[in-house]
Amino acid sequence: MSSPQGVTGKLTTYGDVGFSQYVRRAFLSSAGFDQQDMDRPAIGIIDTSSDYTPCHRDMPQLVDAVRRGVLQAGGLPLVCPTLSVGETIIAPTGMLYRNLLAMETEEAIRAYPMDAVVLVGGCDKTVPAQWMAAVSANVPAIGVVAGPMRAGSWHGEPLGACTDCRGYWARYRAGELQEHELREVEQSLCSTAGTCMVMGTASTMACTLEALGLMLPGSAAAPADSGDRLRNGVASGRRAVELAHEAIRPGDVISSAAIRNALTVLMALGGSTNAVIHLTAIAGRAGIKLTLDDLHAAGQKIPLLVDCKPAGGGYLPDLHAAGGMPALLKVLEGHLDLTTRGVTGRTLGDLLQQVPLPGAWQQTIRSLENPLGPPGALAALKGTLAPTGAVIKPAAATPGLLKHRGPALVFESPEDVAARIDDPRLNVTADHVLVLRNSGPVAAGMPESGSIPIPRQLAVRGVEDMVRVSDARMSGTAYGTVVLHCSPESAVGGPLALVQDGDLIELDVSGRRIDLMVDAREMERRRQNFVPPPLPERGWRQLYAQHVTQADQGADLDFLMPSSEAD
Ligand code: FES
Repeated sequence: MSSPQGVTGKLTTYGDVGFSQYVRRAFLSSAGFDQQDMDRPAIGIIDTSSDYTPCHRDMPQLVDAVRRGVLQAGGLPLVCPTLSVGETIIAPTGMLYRNLLAMETEEAIRAYPMDAVVLVGGCDKTVPAQWMAAVSANVPAIGVVAGPMRAGSWHGEPLGACTDCRGYWARYRAGELQEHELREVEQSLCSTAGTCMVMGTASTMACTLEALGLMLPGSAAAPADSGDRLRNGVASGRRAVELAHEAIRPGDVISSAAIRNALTVLMALGGSTNAVIHLTAIAGRAGIKLTLDDLHAAGQKIPLLVDCKPAGGGYLPDLHAAGGMPALLKVLEGHLDLTTRGVTGRTLGDLLQQVPLPGAWQQTIRSLENPLGPPGALAALKGTLAPTGAVIKPAAATPGLLKHRGPALVFESPEDVAARIDDPRLNVTADHVLVLRNSGPVAAGMPESGSIPIPRQLAVRGVEDMVRVSDARMSGTAYGTVVLHCSPESAVGGPLALVQDGDLIELDVSGRRIDLMVDAREMERRRQNFVPPPLPERGWRQLYAQHVTQADQGADLDFLMPSSEAD
């Protein structure tokens, strides 16, 4: 147990401690706080609500629920708004700002009096940023997420963001849908408040963080508009006050075993490839190296169990109704390290003793004996095109393309894709491998442009998937035979920079390989002519490009990682 310092902790420096205390009391008094308030543990509530983040639109109500819980437990809630990274509204990509939000959040936790902190996030980059920050600041912390949207419908078909966004867009590009129909679909894709309700990045991060023990059990999948979500907010606020006394810190929760548990869950979920980068970054802040071999090890034994899009057919509210993460963890019990201890203070084994297996009445959480798909929902690759690694999501790919050899068709940037992909003169066949470069962390902040659209001339002929390779990311809601995160990226001279149209590329997922079939002497000749792209000229973008690490290291900033991890 420890003694919370309340709002008298972390004094502003005026060179006179007594004056600092006196003037702080004066200003807090102006906000209506009396001595009884000031004697309570100070609980920071990091609030990422913003008009620029529509999926957080119900967050003010959730923050109020957290505040209520803090007050009930005898704490003093202090809301601290931060930058909000709204995935579909921010340019050029939310990933460019994940590390900025992580820095801001870490400094807020360090600088303001917070005996414990409740991290209220939801959208793709907000939650990983908050936990990178909390691990580095190592103040007692608990996570609360906005929760997923409910599914909408169009012409009797269920609709969900954003797997169905992509499906209907592909049908529109193929000429199967009219403009006015697309407009109707657009109105129902995001039918309520909340984060994307398929197993995209937001959902995957919520579920894996619950598995890590950073949120209360059962909280990851509760819909944004549900009473369960608000009750989770209240309970998390109460628990934050207890954490302030018990001094359980993120560094006590995040361990190698907990990270392995999260990877086990990631495979069962068929979760987002982005989670590999985010979990690597969060683990890295704790000095734990998560490697693509760890991912492979989890992929070898854990089949796809959760029936949510894009790997399955359902939505996050279905997972919640089926028992949520506690029920999934119960199914996986034999594959988990049950000694890990999360923010509840109890071991995972202890928690799961009270959890029943999911009932036979539901179909969303499958058993290990009757899985939805084979092991290896996500796979790590290496090869001459990605010497330090790449990832692919076989669960959302075309099985017949998982072993493929074809000629490269190279695009220099996402802008080049936009300019040429639908050009009827583009010399492309369904056997081609579409290659995109200059989309890695240094070059572009790593946008989600890896799922290059199928060229219109092929889409209208019914081609739905092709092998695509890039140093970009892909939305967790997307699907296709898409090799991502090729490292090192092209902008720092990775082999992707040297690919030319017509070079043969071979993908062999079961062999864990992605290879450029060009001999070493020719590669060396091309390397002599490589010219790296210019770095941004000022501000955050320049700092980011100078210090961001490669995808296999979590794309964190080198100066924010423990020194052994940044090497
Ligand atoms: Fe925020 Fe999808 S846009 S979770």
